[in-house]
Amino acid sequence: MKLWGGRFTRTTDRLVEDFHSSISFDQWLYREDIAGSIAHARMLAATGLLTAAERDQIIKGLESIKADIEAGRVSFDLAAEDIHMNIEKLLTERIGEAGKKLHTARSRNDQVALDLRLYLKREIPRLQELLIALQKVLVELAEKHLHSIMPGYTHLQKAQPVTLAHHLLAYFEMFYRDRQRLHDCLQRLNVLPLGAGALAGTTLPIDREMVARELGFREVSYNSLDAVSDRDFVVEFLAAASLLMMHLSRFCEELILWSSEEFGFIELDDAYSTGSSMMPQKKNPDVAELVRGKTGRVYGHLLGMLTVLKGLPLAYNKDLQEDKEALFDALDTVKGCLMVFTPMLATIKFKTERMRQAAEGGFANATDVAEYLVRKGLPFREAHAVVGALVLDCLQKGRSFKDLTLAEWQSFSPLFGEDISNYLSIEACVNGRDLPGGPAPAAVSKALERARRLLAGK
Ligand code: ARG
Repeated sequence: MKLWGGRFTRTTDRLVEDFHSSISFDQWLYREDIAGSIAHARMLAATGLLTAAERDQIIKGLESIKADIEAGRVSFDLAAEDIHMNIEKLLTERIGEAGKKLHTARSRNDQVALDLRLYLKREIPRLQELLIALQKVLVELAEKHLHSIMPGYTHLQKAQPVTLAHHLLAYFEMFYRDRQRLHDCLQRLNVLPLGAGALAGTTLPIDREMVARELGFREVSYNSLDAVSDRDFVVEFLAAASLLMMHLSRFCEELILWSSEEFGFIELDDAYSTGSSMMPQKKNPDVAELVRGKTGRVYGHLLGMLTVLKGLPLAYNKDLQEDKEALFDALDTVKGCLMVFTPMLATIKFKTERMRQAAEGGFANATDVAEYLVRKGLPFREAHAVVGALVLDCLQKGRSFKDLTLAEWQSFSPLFGEDISNYLSIEACVNGRDLPGGPAPAAVSKALERARRLLAGK
């Protein structure tokens, strides 16, 4: 007999049972479901809907169920559909009559909305910890490579030299924004939906504020229809997770490129790379590739969830049950990726000599020469043209700026003087860019201070 079987004369079709039951995945909400039920039972007793004895029986029963689930002693019943009814059924089997009173003034609709919010209240801080661990590694590496010069790129063409520290701290900023987004998501979802009932609350005297206090919610929801049908917080989480995966994926793409022989900027540790079953010489960046690849499924969950919600009438609809697999898989994926990405990054060998050599070529100091002329009073657009002509001449003759005599410089512009040689070295190019947010070691030192401050929570 179903918990809701009163008005039915025939049993559920076996195929429907399989099709609509969510217990195979929503069992992962057991902790939240039990915590929510305990708070609910305390409230029911406080308002006189349960006796103190019934409340204590219920709480004891729920705690024993939790212990048994954690010890692997519970096998869930598909016919009981979901975690909410499985637990209620187990409770009544264990404690009898009092168990039948737990669902007073409550629906699975507000219950599942509560469980999901509680789940994210627990999981988001864990995810933030993983991001902090990654940011710490970035800061340590940046400290080590404050003076390591590498090419900066636009269009994947060598553009201007930067420091490796600066490049790494670009990712620090991305992951910082990810943490902020998760924080915002957590703030907005911190609202208690329980008490909204199926859609319109209850006639029984309940104390929602008490439940909110018990479960650590900032406030109670303001509209019962919205409370049971709102999954904005799931979408927001999936959007934040998608951006985070996008950042990881871009980073991975760079590590993949950098580990190629053509770039030769890094070597991945053996522990974080794999071989080929056929080609004995190969060392492949599979971990980075897989993180890049898994970005697709997290984006997929975001799009899937938005599509589930599109066009849903108020209030609860069973479509909403689709939220959980998306959310759980996205969380598992992001956590799994961060857990392997961070130690992979920490163990990378940076080939700084090779990076420096790469930064030397390609007239990466051309803008600096143009800015030299600007300092001597030439409008930038004209300076740009002069240096463009210089680059062309050098390319045609197979020479570089350092090979030019003063007379040759001056044949392009009389504004060039002896001091031009001070502006050509790669160090001069980098050190001169000491503006706030720039790549010079002096500027990056300040960025590092800020990064350390942020990590210390100040
Ligand atoms: N398993 C359901 C879900 O995940 C719980 C709520 C079901 N409510 C209902 N009226 N069928 O959404």
